Amino acid sequence: MARKISILIVDDEESVRDSLYNWFIEDGFRVECAENAKRALTILESDQFDIILADIKMPGMDGLEMLRRIKSLKNDSIVIVMTAFATVDTAVKALKDGAYDYVTKPFDPDDLTHLIRNATRQISLAEENESLREKVISLENVEDLIGNSEAMKNVLREVESVAQTNSSVIITGESGTGKELVARAIHANSPRKFFPFVSVHCGALTESLLESELFGHEKGAFTGAMYNRKGRFEMADSGSIFLDEIATISVKMQVELLRVLESKTFMRVGGNKEISSDFRVICATNKDLKSMVEKGTFREDLYYRLNVVNIQIPPLRDRKEDIPLLVDYFIKKYCTSMNRPSVSIDPGALKRLQEFNFPGNIRELENMIERAIVVGNGKKISLKDLPLEKTMVTSSAESLDDFEKAFILQILNKYSWNISRTARALKVDRVTLYHKIKKYNLKQADQQ
Ligand SMILES: Nc1ncnc2c1ncn2[C@@H]1O[C@H](COP(=O)(O)OP(=O)(O)OP(=O)(O)O)[C@@H](O)[C@H]1O
Ligand SMILES: [Mg+2]
Repeated sequence: MARKISILIVDDEESVRDSLYNWFIEDGFRVECAENAKRALTILESDQFDIILADIKMPGMDGLEMLRRIKSLKNDSIVIVMTAFATVDTAVKALKDGAYDYVTKPFDPDDLTHLIRNATRQISLAEENESLREKVISLENVEDLIGNSEAMKNVLREVESVAQTNSSVIITGESGTGKELVARAIHANSPRKFFPFVSVHCGALTESLLESELFGHEKGAFTGAMYNRKGRFEMADSGSIFLDEIATISVKMQVELLRVLESKTFMRVGGNKEISSDFRVICATNKDLKSMVEKGTFREDLYYRLNVVNIQIPPLRDRKEDIPLLVDYFIKKYCTSMNRPSVSIDPGALKRLQEFNFPGNIRELENMIERAIVVGNGKKISLKDLPLEKTMVTSSAESLDDFEKAFILQILNKYSWNISRTARALKVDRVTLYHKIKKYNLKQADQQ
């Protein structure tokens, strides 16, 4: 271990303190001593120790009380209590109160060495984990999953809890809702995070290409197979495999996939050796797999294999409160990547974005913002930088309809709902007028 481990010895007997002090100093620890609990707590106010070795029976405050106080201080030192044979019961009580372990007096040097070694190992493991965790956050190039809506918070909670397991997950959601991002987040938060995340776009490959992509192939297995090639399942060993657009795979592939999921073994195309791989499966689809199962186009057994956990990502139009956050996030993302100072967005433009339906979900919003930053040339993003014509068309079409409806009603009322006279005034035939009345659900009592 690179740094010195520190130990605080708390014992009222000077001979015990001295012998332990000398012993640990020789072993390369940093050591301090306190002759009673009160003194120990004072030292702890200004100093940190990895290990506290404390006698239970001391005049004044005893070791148990001191232990409770140390724990209530959220001090995460490892506390080891020392006790005479006669008071092992008390030692057990100490364990319940959060002591790491106990040693009995008189010490067996081997016992104590062993105990301190274990404690030291635990400390270095905890530190290693901490530094690994920091590395993951900076290493894993997972974009943040942005969203403050209840719907998105639920997704995040699900990601967090499912990440800890090995269960198969199906992520469902419309195109562009962030299915792949969620799959990556599951992997990046799982114990498999240091191993590969292997992604396969099932929809983009023909059956035979998909087969050799997933299982690999041996040299000469088919025309063009010039080398042995590892498949994606093999590459995903100890990691996760992401099967995107799972609904597109053929019935034959469904059978093969089921077999692999059950046995975790497979053979390369053209090979005869069983290969095993420990992978976790995450799938995504924008199709309703359940109804495909009902129609018989997706195998039910495979469906249940894959669908241990289902995470549904709601479309953006159902969580419009996330739009301002996402806009902010994408502005920063693209200004940074284009090496430009950050820009803001005109409140009116933001409002229009929040009214837009986003059939292409987050991807569409992201593309809009990227484009707006390019065309806006460093200026504030305004409505004219955003391709929202589609909404303008629909909203103007809606208003045209509103206008027509109001106009027809006005003429109808003017002629007291006499259809012939109204039709003549509107220069349409009676059938057309009836159609319009039906379309707009006009009634005689309606007033403008
Ligand atoms: N919650 C989010 N926060 C930030 N960015 C997001 C979020 N969700 C999606 N994105 C971004 O939107 C884009 C589309 O996401 P992704 O590719 O994961 O969607 P998808 O559901 O897999 O789409 P498709 O069905 O078309 O494959 C990506 O650039 C992704 O980074
Ligand atoms: Mg995708």
